[in-house]
Amino acid sequence: RTALRRAARRVLLHNWTGTSTVPSHGLYPHQWSWDSAFVAIGLRHLSVRRAQRELETLTAAQWGDGRVPHIVFNRAVPLGAYFPSPDFWRSSTAGAAAGAPQEVETSGIVQPPVHALAAWLVHEADPAASRRRGFLPRLYPRLAAWHRYLADRRDLGGGGLAAVLHPWEPGMDNSPCWDGPLQRVEPVPASTFRRADLDHGAASDRPTDLDYGRYVRLAADYRDRGYRDGGPGGAHAFAVEDPGTNALFAASEHALARIAAEVGAAPGPHVRRAEALTDALVTRLWDAQTGVFRCRDLRADALVPEIGVGGLIPLLVPGLPADVVRALVRTAAGPHFGLGDTVRMAPSYDLAGHAFDPGRYWRGPAWFNVNWLLERGLRQHGYTDRADALRDAALDAAGGSGFAEYVDPYSGEARGTRDFSWTAALALDLLA
Ligand code: DGY
Repeated sequence: RTALRRAARRVLLHNWTGTSTVPSHGLYPHQWSWDSAFVAIGLRHLSVRRAQRELETLTAAQWGDGRVPHIVFNRAVPLGAYFPSPDFWRSSTAGAAAGAPQEVETSGIVQPPVHALAAWLVHEADPAASRRRGFLPRLYPRLAAWHRYLADRRDLGGGGLAAVLHPWEPGMDNSPCWDGPLQRVEPVPASTFRRADLDHGAASDRPTDLDYGRYVRLAADYRDRGYRDGGPGGAHAFAVEDPGTNALFAASEHALARIAAEVGAAPGPHVRRAEALTDALVTRLWDAQTGVFRCRDLRADALVPEIGVGGLIPLLVPGLPADVVRALVRTAAGPHFGLGDTVRMAPSYDLAGHAFDPGRYWRGPAWFNVNWLLERGLRQHGYTDRADALRDAALDAAGGSGFAEYVDPYSGEARGTRDFSWTAALALDLLA
């Protein structure tokens, strides 16, 4: 365990740029939104000051409309090192009406709102230092505006949940959950862009060219509309309510209530929004028959038949109805996810699903951030033995795989890139 801690620290020190952390120097050489939140959660055990800086750097790139972009680009990195690069997103011009910053280039889409939860955990690591540096008073207005953006601009289904407009937004890029909704999206030809990811990862671990053709089409259309969210859901070719994203929104809204109380603002509105999100999750996405949350395709106004691990993430939400919690725990251990039975870490997608692939990105491999969230959810609801077993499994896999980006859920074999920041950061947190 001492060796694991030392190795995890080494990864985070190596991936620190001076103002933030890259997920990995090769594959993801800029700052990513939800990565930074998970990184801060681990970094607080290494340097509270760096953990604060991580979140401050990210939220300094917030747009005027409140969105926190999914990538903040590092100018020092050559354009060809990552695709889509700043010249594709053109945030400062195409996003001007939405209040994109002028001093820094960003993407125009978002990622799940883990930030308030991370900010609260960073504060808790050293409340005195946090207060001395005015960390939460600086972060609170940014986090409040971010959540307001999701609540006001992204409730495209009108039922009180935030919609995602691109498969990169829920962070589970090529999950089979998006296959159906993506059928409506005309892919751009693969010959019109050059993927940089294949320079750093095995093609069999990554999304396909057809996936990328659709990702590019959706992002370009959003950009060409000035990154405007307005209008009914029908205006977007892809609009989905994702349980993982909305569960993180609810959990973060609870954290924001604590932050509000700490800085002398009113916690009540945040508690009420968290409760409303929890109700909406159950009303709109709960499938009692299977015992899992599903994605809602807003264009079809129907639940998606695929079972993804995002459907278990609401376990993280405090105040989830007890019967729903019990059913989720059963589902996690059942044939779809096999947790503690056929596998030690939850796979990203249904083990029995027709599209299951143990190696390809979000179509089966086990990811460390997801399993960290499940560990926390299990512990919070009193499933201590299961949480301990999952923690031990994640630590074994993190160390055994060289802090891989993701692992084969059956063999634990490393997939994707290595020395991946959130794997190291969350291992540090689980060791604490
Ligand atoms: C990527 O580039 O693969 C990311 O997941 C998209 O943000």
